[in-house]
Amino acid sequence: MKRAILLALSALTICSANSIDQNQMATPIPDSIAYDKEKAILGKKLYMDTSLSADGKVSCNTCHDIKSFGVDNQVFSTGIHGVLDKPFNSPTTFNAVFNFVQFWNGRAKDLADQARGPFTNPNEMGLRDEAEVIKIIEQNPDYKARFNDIYGEINMENITDAIAEFEKTLITPNSPFDRYQKGDQNAISDAAKRGWNAFKNNGCIACHQGQNLGGTMYQKIGIFEPYPNQENLGRYEITKQETDKMVFKVPSLRNIAKTAPYYHDGSVPTLDACVQFMAYYQLGRFLDQQTVDDIVAFLESLTGEYNEQF
Ligand code: HEC
Ligand code: HEC
Repeated sequence: MKRAILLALSALTICSANSIDQNQMATPIPDSIAYDKEKAILGKKLYMDTSLSADGKVSCNTCHDIKSFGVDNQVFSTGIHGVLDKPFNSPTTFNAVFNFVQFWNGRAKDLADQARGPFTNPNEMGLRDEAEVIKIIEQNPDYKARFNDIYGEINMENITDAIAEFEKTLITPNSPFDRYQKGDQNAISDAAKRGWNAFKNNGCIACHQGQNLGGTMYQKIGIFEPYPNQENLGRYEITKQETDKMVFKVPSLRNIAKTAPYYHDGSVPTLDACVQFMAYYQLGRFLDQQTVDDIVAFLESLTGEYNEQF
């Protein structure tokens, strides 16, 4: 506990005291990033394909709907045979490419590594094993031809590579905040400008920074006050290190107004409550309602544009 406080405070002092301009700590999403189009088209087919699940009803898109900012807005998603996908709330696939690791506890090193999990996860797509994934894909002549052309072989490495390539297209440039950062003074409201200042001055930026305003580090949830739900212990479940208890990847705040409910357990339904909780648990302070409203206005300006390309 003490160590965590020290860590958080030192993060805050580093940010406020050193010469880096805090305005530079949140950088815009690029208009596009390089990707291989043929692979991405194949990856999209796989992402949308419910035949790759045990009951033929669940695809990646079921829980990470690309028409809905990469989420399903449920506390817990529904996998095969109606089972609830506990204990984690589905994070968005949008801009996930910019996160330093994948999953709330960071157990996948990149998107391809992540994409290996869902097919055989009993709460998600529930196939028996990876041989079954490959068999279903082999039996589909369209897939067969595409894999042959692009990769020469159907295997898990190539399947997850194609999905990861598609996920590179799930980025949302051009949010009002990004336009403001690029110099358009009128892109966001006065409330959002005050909120951005409050976000920096109160130290939110110490953890939520970079292209995604998150996704660059692990931090403990519940630094000043224990987080009420200790059912899942975050990084600790992977490392078994005492200091990793309740440590999670700091999530992205891109499109955060569209991806309720919040936190790894989906326990908080509104942004307003989320900001209050963050100030209390992470910074040990109460924010007045005006400041909360301003920060919410700022967070709302982080909604970008998804351009579905094929
Ligand atoms: C039944 C719902 C469900 C299905 C189906 C599903 N996911 Fe997920 N996804 C989740 C949940 C829940 C998590 C968080 C799990 C965790 O952190 O341990 C997650 C995490 C992720 C993440 C990590 C994002 C981040 O920022 O950490 C990515 C990327 C992702 N899924 C992509 C996919 C892909 C690709 C597929 C299809 C191959 C897929 N998901 C299928 C529910 C689902
Ligand atoms: C010490 C690091 C730290 C600080 C400071 C911090 N956060 Fe967080 N934030 C986190 C972590 C870690 C999570 C994920 C917690 C979880 O899901 O259990 C999180 C989650 C969130 C979420 C929910 C995201 C989602 O997708 O569910 C929002 C919104 C948020 N923070 C906003 C803020 C705001 C606003 C501030 C300042 C008042 C702030 N944070 C300060 C580390 C921090």
